[in-house]
Amino acid sequence: MIFEQIATGGCQSYLIGCGDTHAAALIDPEISQLDQYLALAARDGLHIRYLIDTHTHADHFSGTHALAKKLQVPVVMQRNSPTPFVDLRLGDGEMLMLGRMRIEALHTPGHTRDSMCLRVEDRVFTGDTLLIGGTGRTDLPSGDPFALHDSLFNHLLKLDPALRIFPAHDYKGRKSSTIADELSSNPRLQHADPSAFAELMNTLNLSMPTHITEALRVNMGGGKSVAQMLDEAAASVPFMSLETLRARVEQDDPGLIVLDVRERDAYEAGHIPGARLLPRGQLELRVNQELPDPTRRILACCEIGKVSTLATATLREMGFAGAVALDGGMKAWREAGYPLKTGSEP
Ligand SMILES: [Fe+2]
Repeated sequence: MIFEQIATGGCQSYLIGCGDTHAAALIDPEISQLDQYLALAARDGLHIRYLIDTHTHADHFSGTHALAKKLQVPVVMQRNSPTPFVDLRLGDGEMLMLGRMRIEALHTPGHTRDSMCLRVEDRVFTGDTLLIGGTGRTDLPSGDPFALHDSLFNHLLKLDPALRIFPAHDYKGRKSSTIADELSSNPRLQHADPSAFAELMNTLNLSMPTHITEALRVNMGGGKSVAQMLDEAAASVPFMSLETLRARVEQDDPGLIVLDVRERDAYEAGHIPGARLLPRGQLELRVNQELPDPTRRILACCEIGKVSTLATATLREMGFAGAVALDGGMKAWREAGYPLKTGSEP
């Protein structure tokens, strides 16, 4: 087996490939690492055939949907997944062929109703069902401590104790464990009685994951995260540095239109000398009157550089081929002590 483990913070993704045929599957990919996964697959000579989420993630942004569009390969999830764009849904005991390897899906609800573990040769990818020294939480949507207890004690933990386990999360830099080690040392597994286990799970008092609503929207709806939209916009536009802009402003460069896309009160409190005001929310509707010449060089600026990147991408999409974004924003401009003008438009 060809095997890569990729950590993104505490999230673990896995690229597994058949050593004979080089067919591969990517398990629990995270959206910010797509280039990394593709580069590893290329380096290892692997052809990704399946994109698998072990469950509906509430704490990170799944990369399966974006990669499926790019690679034209199926997204695989458990049969109970609420996600509409899943191409292949696996029931308990069903397998995927990966070259000469077999990936067997075990339905292990509890962390979520659609949680599954994936058994491949000498190892099990346990998702958030079983972690090293812990288990997944059961207080997020569709979680159920009694179901998790049943999945663990009546299914997963009855497998060969020598099997290695690879979880979807580890926050302490550990790579893997074994079922035997977890049985003997995992504190959550010392509660063989279902009620005691549920009582423990229900009193953990965990804080909600950051971005939970956004993660569920992206992972279940197939939409884009805010970071993804910003990345895509940033990849489609050129940027100008604060220093270069300052030099242009001081030379009073007539070829450059500086477009401040913040709201009026922010603009009037302090803007780049000569900048015009066109708030982002009015951009599309006012662009024909405000910017009649689409060949002009237009630099968009905002407070921190994110909204201006989106505005520049929109301008370029509308045919302003000379639109440029500021690498930074008015906050950095002010902090650098660069010239400011207050009041209404020039
Ligand atoms: Fe999870």
